[in-house]
Amino acid sequence: MARAATIHTCANCAHSEPRWMGQCPGCGEWNTMVEEHTPGPVTAASGAGRLRGSGGARAAAVTRLKDVDTTRAPRLQTGINEVDRVLGGGLVAGSLVLLGGSPGIGKSTLTGMALGNLAAAGRQVLYVSGEESAQQIRLRHERLLTPTCAALDVPVLAETDLGTVLATIEAERPDVVVIDSVQTLHAAELTGAPGSVGQVREVASRIMQVAKPSGTAVLLVGHVTKEGALAGPRVLEHLVDCVLQFEGERERMYRTLRALKNRFGSTNEAGVFEMRSGGLVEVLDASARFVSEATRKPGSVVLAAMEGSRPLLVEVQALVSPSELVPPRRVVNGIDRNRLALVLAVLGRHAGVGVGTADVFVNVVGGVRVDEPGADLAVALAVASAQRGVALGSGEDGKLPVACFGEVGLTGELRTVAHADRRLEEARKFGLAPVVSPAGTPTLRAALQSVLRADARRAGSADTHA
Ligand code: TYD
Ligand code: MG
Repeated sequence: MARAATIHTCANCAHSEPRWMGQCPGCGEWNTMVEEHTPGPVTAASGAGRLRGSGGARAAAVTRLKDVDTTRAPRLQTGINEVDRVLGGGLVAGSLVLLGGSPGIGKSTLTGMALGNLAAAGRQVLYVSGEESAQQIRLRHERLLTPTCAALDVPVLAETDLGTVLATIEAERPDVVVIDSVQTLHAAELTGAPGSVGQVREVASRIMQVAKPSGTAVLLVGHVTKEGALAGPRVLEHLVDCVLQFEGERERMYRTLRALKNRFGSTNEAGVFEMRSGGLVEVLDASARFVSEATRKPGSVVLAAMEGSRPLLVEVQALVSPSELVPPRRVVNGIDRNRLALVLAVLGRHAGVGVGTADVFVNVVGGVRVDEPGADLAVALAVASAQRGVALGSGEDGKLPVACFGEVGLTGELRTVAHADRRLEEARKFGLAPVVSPAGTPTLRAALQSVLRADARRAGSADTHA
């Protein structure tokens, strides 16, 4: 009998080799190869020598697409609207969902609330935690004060051994199980440490094998590493049905939930949450919140952004300040650093606004991330306004707050972006009209001229230090 076959997989790129290697031939990273055992049939095959062709397997029946049954898989409502919407209408029975996010963002809180709601709706649920004791979990759940939520009725299992967890899932047969987190469970058969790529992959695939047949929906919680990738990263993305990403910063109020992959719905959806003392609260009127909080001082502008298929108004702020550093600082929060570099270059070259050797800071208020070219114009207007020390204003008397969107092109032109009509509608809804966009203003220079006028200088710009 041959030894159980093992392979070595790169934790960075998932490339695999039969032997351990110091440097991964796939991506060139050092010390990333991890041992894992090749499961079931392959082990037998490698023990019995190589198989040829189909190896004697029997052919299966194929079906024409029009004959395929399209009865929709039943959905389990988590009772958190934003989560259900991002999932495409609720959790699909038997599906595997990966929820990623950095530590402290609220993954345990969110999944705990979802299980509480499901329990209240009469569903069988199970919360498996490899991170916290049952006591700690109870303390957290006691704080979740949603009236409809049966947070304390949720059965918990504080366990890190994969075998025990699998046996418990088989015995309990819950409708929904949360594994918090996939990186803390440990398969005894593998030598790798918990959280290593081999372990994470093993844990996820064995849980799936146990959960799929009984129609149990699995929510795998996964920590995101500093680089922003899910630890044990790519290896889980292809295995699971949905990848949800919980973003934001721990110190900030707002968090967004996005679908990066969804086999049962669109990946364009996003939900906004606020962390309160009683858990996470869905922010249904995020635009209203951000607009009313906007400062309207020099360096501030409202961006009509898109969060998935929903328009969202957010405040973009900039600060331009003299620097002794070479090169000067370019600090961004919520936008792409390279987009800032591009916008600064175009501002200097085509719009007569040079920031020279000054430090430039750009921040999207509330910890929201806007990863779209439509944010360019807002960054440009905020920086120009900050550099001149003049608040932006529109309308006859230059006193109306400015909302904008649009991509900035390299030749100084403004380029159209998707969903212009929905952005305009949202801005109008909150009294922000006219909106500066590529439709009315063809160039960045024209956009600046329309809202950055000396006579628009208001009392607001004088009381900056008040
Ligand atoms: P947690 O859900 O444990 O984050 P994760 O599982 O993603 O690591 O909690 C996130 C933070 O939120 C934690 O620092 C405590 C805080 N928090 C509240 O402010 N209010 C609450 O009701 C709860 C449960 C947590
Ligand atoms: Mg947690």
